[in-house]
Amino acid sequence: MTENKTFELSNGRGGGSQLPVRSGTMGPAAIDIAGLHKDLEVFTYDPGFGATAATESRITYIDGDAGVLLYRGYPIEQLAQKSSFMEVAYLLLLGELPSQKQLEEFSGNIRYHTMINESLLRFFNAFNHNAHPMAMVSGVVASMAAFYHETMDIHNPRHREIFSHRIIAKIPTIAAAAHKHSLGQPFIYPLNKLGYAENVLNMLFAVPCEEYQVDPIAAKALDLLFVLHADHEQNASTSTVRLAGSTGANPYAAISAGVSALWGPAHGGANEAVLAMLEQIGTVENIPQYLAMAKDKSSHFRLMGFGHRVYKNFDPRATIIREMCHKVLAQLGRSDNPLLELALRLEEIALKDEYFIARKLYPNVDFYSGVIYSAIGIPRSMFTVMFAIARTVGWVAHWQEMISDPAMRIGRPRQLYTGATKREYIQVDMR
Ligand code: CMC
Repeated sequence: MTENKTFELSNGRGGGSQLPVRSGTMGPAAIDIAGLHKDLEVFTYDPGFGATAATESRITYIDGDAGVLLYRGYPIEQLAQKSSFMEVAYLLLLGELPSQKQLEEFSGNIRYHTMINESLLRFFNAFNHNAHPMAMVSGVVASMAAFYHETMDIHNPRHREIFSHRIIAKIPTIAAAAHKHSLGQPFIYPLNKLGYAENVLNMLFAVPCEEYQVDPIAAKALDLLFVLHADHEQNASTSTVRLAGSTGANPYAAISAGVSALWGPAHGGANEAVLAMLEQIGTVENIPQYLAMAKDKSSHFRLMGFGHRVYKNFDPRATIIREMCHKVLAQLGRSDNPLLELALRLEEIALKDEYFIARKLYPNVDFYSGVIYSAIGIPRSMFTVMFAIARTVGWVAHWQEMISDPAMRIGRPRQLYTGATKREYIQVDMR
């Protein structure tokens, strides 16, 4: 980060503050306001953090106007076409693409940790069968802190590395256990001869009484969806992981906080909400009625899978997934997919609508992903869990980056107080 200019801010009463402007390698510069409160006794006000850079980061870059997404400098389109989730995980965590040997070693380390402590499995029995899998995953991931607390020194780089392997390896096992619990089926242990996405599918769909062959088309599609969801810079769940982690909390607890933040329909929960919405719309004829509802400010209905805080152009991940939908459905022999047809028509109609044009609302990553998850047999309630599996890599990369920064401080936003001014307590019988 370089400093090239300063902003000068004055309070008009003789007080002033020199605010350095910091430039990154790409993207808008940031005004460093750290001295503002000391110099002028004011805070900045930015609800929703629309104009606030909370940290420096070297991991992921987004240009929302141009529809660009880079992981460690590599365009998402190239990674989607040529890479794999394990390779992308290595890249996000360690900053460079691995050699063949490094990749094998890294994948081996992940495989080594896929099993979860047997007593963690028993936690699932405490949940109702209709518990949402995100609630189970969040709870069980937080519980991992109970198994790895005394042995986890966040300032020890080797401990951090083992943590990163463990959580990336175990989150699919936990996710699949949540699914099996919902179905009332026996848990399927991980099979370490399988690849990462293959293992997810095997644990989700295999049963002990029958042979199960993972469909390579489904495994490839899932691996690609994992690549596309692996990181997205300082989004709500990643910022949650950073904030929780900045207190020095056990990192499994911080990741669990990230899972909870991801669950909301404005964030990762949108993939589940999109499918629910498409099923609710039902037919092309009903689209105008739902679009009208999405535009009506007195209704809480929004077009799920549309709009993004950062992208004011096509989300490049949505473009890749839309293409992928056609390919995967054709390969699975399900080209005739009414949900995809409906989604395509909805996109077409919305993109011509003045409301969506004026607000630069485009389909985001979640608009089409559910169509693929459904086609490979993943139930709707598990969509956001799939997102959480992939995003765990990003959360861990950001947590690692933050903890290894010697300048790390606890995250502690300030506020603009609008409550009552100081007043005297009144005894209850006098109120
Ligand atoms: N449908 C209808 N109107 C919308 C939508 C939508 N999906 N998204 C934004 N708007 C309108 C909003 O009402 C506002 O209108 P106005 O200026 O007249 O008040 C304007 O567009 C700006 O919206 P905003 O709420 O200020 O934008 P934001 O940056 O705070 O919110 C968002 C971004 C993604 C939460 C929002 O677009 C949304 O709720 N989308 C639907 C949920 C969704 O698909 N979420 C997944 C995001 S991508 C994956 C991820 O991050 O996990």
